[in-house]
Amino acid sequence: MKRVNKSLDINVDKQQVYEIRIEQDYSHLAEMLKSLDMGNRKFMIVTDSMVGKLYTKQITDVLQPIAKSIHTYVFPAGEKSKNLDTVRACYDQLILEGFDRNDVLIALGGGVVGDLTGFLAATYLRGIRFVQLPTSLLAMVDSSIGGKTGVDFNSYKNMIGAFYQPRLVYMNLSTLQSLEPNHFYSGMSEIIKHGLIKDEEYYRWIKEHQKQIKDKDFDILAEMIYRSCQIKKTFVEEDPKETGVRAILNFGHTIGHSIEKIKNFDLLHGECISIGMVAAAFISLKRGYINQETYDDLKNTLEAFYQPITVTGIEINKVLKATKLDKKMDAGHIKFILLKPIGKGIIDTTVSEDEIYEAIQSVSIH
Ligand SMILES: NC(=O)c1ccc[n+]([C@@H]2O[C@H](COP(=O)([O-])OP(=O)(O)OC[C@H]3O[C@@H](n4cnc5c(N)ncnc54)[C@H](O)[C@@H]3O)[C@@H](O)[C@H]2O)c1
Ligand SMILES: [Zn+2]
Repeated sequence: MKRVNKSLDINVDKQQVYEIRIEQDYSHLAEMLKSLDMGNRKFMIVTDSMVGKLYTKQITDVLQPIAKSIHTYVFPAGEKSKNLDTVRACYDQLILEGFDRNDVLIALGGGVVGDLTGFLAATYLRGIRFVQLPTSLLAMVDSSIGGKTGVDFNSYKNMIGAFYQPRLVYMNLSTLQSLEPNHFYSGMSEIIKHGLIKDEEYYRWIKEHQKQIKDKDFDILAEMIYRSCQIKKTFVEEDPKETGVRAILNFGHTIGHSIEKIKNFDLLHGECISIGMVAAAFISLKRGYINQETYDDLKNTLEAFYQPITVTGIEINKVLKATKLDKKMDAGHIKFILLKPIGKGIIDTTVSEDEIYEAIQSVSIH
């Protein structure tokens, strides 16, 4: 088999450019950390119970030759752990093990691990270096890139956090083999989103390579993840703190987040975003920005990757209310992302309450 190896640099501010590396094993990790002046340091591998069981030993073996010492902090897998209690327990351990500002945190896991470790790194000693080793598809194409870190607070998602960039993002595609299919396909929602908001040709490519993606053909996965990372990179570099265009990445998230909350997080993030994208596309359709054929094709594509396009048992008014309360507001107007046309996301602050109501109605079945 051909070796997968792709790389791109991300340049958020001139002070700190970091590399996103796509590999099919961890064999280059030690040499890369060393070249970034992270040899002979203490490493804290922060991971969850599921990923830790599968990959901590591999990482430890790889890092042993270059590390001063290796420590691990494992918390129970799942969104419920993404809170300040978990952060606090890890601070305790970092202090106990004598971590100083020259040492390094390693985030080994999905988006929960990455967001939480990034926040730890941003705040411990006012900031220590960290590295992302994303292991879920969503983390590879989305959460590990761009420096949004944080935790949930009470029932508010990502309420506490910081913008803080990693020194390296290193993904080992073979870890996707152990990812549960529902999590794999949930990541596909964000990938399809990338095509829809930025690159119609990429969207078509995803549809054409459906079989290879499902078969987890490494070359195709590498190509897909690379292209998605490139799209995310473009938005992040242009607008690191999301004061403008980066909001386009939130396509499907306005209504999607509300559904996620109303359904008590029973559905996966990508699944809610899939429903949210269909709802947002409905507004684009009604406004004549996309045609019926495109709208139907979008639904078929999401379904082809096992994503839901409707939701049952929701009260439309409740979802509407949650949508209006969402933090993505701009002086009282909801910042809605629409497709105009397919392949191009736009920010629209004129979407009315009636339009949102109808959009939610279009994806709701009793
Ligand atoms: N920072 C950002 O920009 C950003 C963007 C999108 C999402 N997020 C956040 O990401 C989180 C969701 O990420 P996620 O979907 O990766 O969830 P997750 O981290 O909970 O991972 C999903 C499940 O898969 C398991 N898992 C991960 N990799 C595995 C592997 N290779 N093999 C076996 N099991 C594996 C995990 O243990 C977990 O049980 C949310 O908290 C969301 O807020 C952040
Ligand atoms: Zn998302």
